[in-house]
Amino acid sequence: MKNKRREFLTNVCPTVALAFVGVTMLEACSSGGEDTIDPGNGGGNNNTNGYTVSGNTVVIDLNHSAFSTLNSNGWMNFTAQKMLLLKIDSSTYRAFTNSCPHQGVRTNWTYNSSQDKFKCGQHNNSYPTDCTTSGTAGGALKCFTTSYSGGKLTVTAS
Ligand code: FES
Repeated sequence: MKNKRREFLTNVCPTVALAFVGVTMLEACSSGGEDTIDPGNGGGNNNTNGYTVSGNTVVIDLNHSAFSTLNSNGWMNFTAQKMLLLKIDSSTYRAFTNSCPHQGVRTNWTYNSSQDKFKCGQHNNSYPTDCTTSGTAGGALKCFTTSYSGGKLTVTAS
């Protein structure tokens, strides 16, 4: 039994293995650059992380502590699902890929509320949040479809 377990743990992806030993991971094995939704939330419909994933749709519980930054700062980089979230008002949100249109860097974002632009600090390019206007390099920041109902934000990647 012990050997079988070790064999299992060495053969499966580390995220799955860690999930079995009780470690919560928000990233899945794949780190590809595609803008697909990552099903690796580790919980299916058990909403322990504050969101659920079904196909290319993510449903976010905006009252969950994992998304308190979105409410307090007005935006957040939801790295587990590779998306930027922007709060327009209490029932209107936008979602974007977090892959910078310039060179695809995902983790160097800030948001300038007075200009209503995301800025990628990697090379300091800025991107409007209207889903159509090009930024200073690489085109427009790609939008996802969003809808809001009863404290839940649904994001569909396309
Ligand atoms: S990768 Fe974002 S500005 Fe260059």
